[in-house]
Amino acid sequence: MNNGIYFDHAATTFLDERVLAEMLPYFQSKFGNASSRHAFGREAVAAVDEARVKIATALGAKENEIYFTSGGTESDNWAIKGVSDAVGQDKKHIVTTSIEHHAILNTLSELAKKGYEVTYVPVNRQGVVSVSDVVGAIREDTALVSVMLANNEVGSIQPVKEIAKEAKKMGVLVHTDAVQAVGAIPVDVNELGVDLLSVSAHKFNGPKGIGALFVRNGVRIGKLITGGEQERSMRGGTYNVPSIVGFGKAIELAVEELSARSERVRFLRDRFVSEIEKAIPFVTVNGAEKDKKLPNNANVCFEYADGESVLLALDMAGIAASLGSACSSGSADPSHVLLAMGLSEGRARSSIRFSFGSENTEEEIEKAVDVLRRAVERLRSYSPLFKQIESGKGNV
Ligand SMILES: Cc1ncc(COP(=O)(O)O)c(C=O)c1O
Repeated sequence: MNNGIYFDHAATTFLDERVLAEMLPYFQSKFGNASSRHAFGREAVAAVDEARVKIATALGAKENEIYFTSGGTESDNWAIKGVSDAVGQDKKHIVTTSIEHHAILNTLSELAKKGYEVTYVPVNRQGVVSVSDVVGAIREDTALVSVMLANNEVGSIQPVKEIAKEAKKMGVLVHTDAVQAVGAIPVDVNELGVDLLSVSAHKFNGPKGIGALFVRNGVRIGKLITGGEQERSMRGGTYNVPSIVGFGKAIELAVEELSARSERVRFLRDRFVSEIEKAIPFVTVNGAEKDKKLPNNANVCFEYADGESVLLALDMAGIAASLGSACSSGSADPSHVLLAMGLSEGRARSSIRFSFGSENTEEEIEKAVDVLRRAVERLRSYSPLFKQIESGKGNV
């Protein structure tokens, strides 16, 4: 067991032991193929069905609107490719935002190569799109609007409900990537009024490699994976029964414990931010006001200190945080989300995402603040620019 301090819950979370306990039998004694027509198969399919009910209930959906996938990336791919395949050749325009996850952005770049046109609606300084900008981008030939429910880097919550209401009047389908939102804030497909929604289990203490796409009844989408008759022939492949069972249990617990968990992480996050602000000068928190973003997110800019170096110092002290999304952490580019919010490249490179979980403690926060204070002080001591600023000779 790694006994470091983990402040990277937006990247992934540990598997809840109650979830693991439900999954274990399906690796060994209950190993049946859910598509087999014998007792072993029936046992497995019953577990898959039960999990589907739990997931549908958690999201306010119907059971036959839930399609299992391998996670958020596949769900996002399927939503976009599936809708564009189904709507026909006269609708080759998609509206999205400039701060989506790469599962959306890179899927759209692929479609662009095939002749689709994509409008990337900008966001404001808080990392939020305007409803009128999104609605104003809809055209006669728009096939889909895809706007994430909550951003993975800065946690800003998007006005998806208002967007869906307007798009519906114009007869345009709406997809939302709710990967960061489910388990963090209440998510109900009918309340939101969306047609498609992506979810991934590993963001709320479920297993990795399993997720779902909600597809509202009546919405036509093409298949992403052809194969057997699983998922009403829409997504072939032998069911990953243990993971599906774990997904069901994890989402059930996430909804039951939502208010306690979010209260706890909000408390820890607010405490962290206020301690950082007290201990370190020239610190700004990126993104929306704290009530308009995910309760566990703090994306902090340590001006005049390079983010990579701060992260390294944290890592050496056994503290895990991240530069942006885990998926782009191999890239040397500054975060596309922070740049889209209008931050300079320098500020974007000095920003770090801390995302908390309810198992974190105040002692961990104190330790992290101390490590950060020392690391930032040291890094700034190497910066001639910071020395000028400190002595009052430079512009802040
Ligand atoms: C907003 C968002 N969408 C999609 C994904 C991809 O999900 P998965 O890791 O399940 O493929 C992530 C994961 O970081 C995410 O944060």
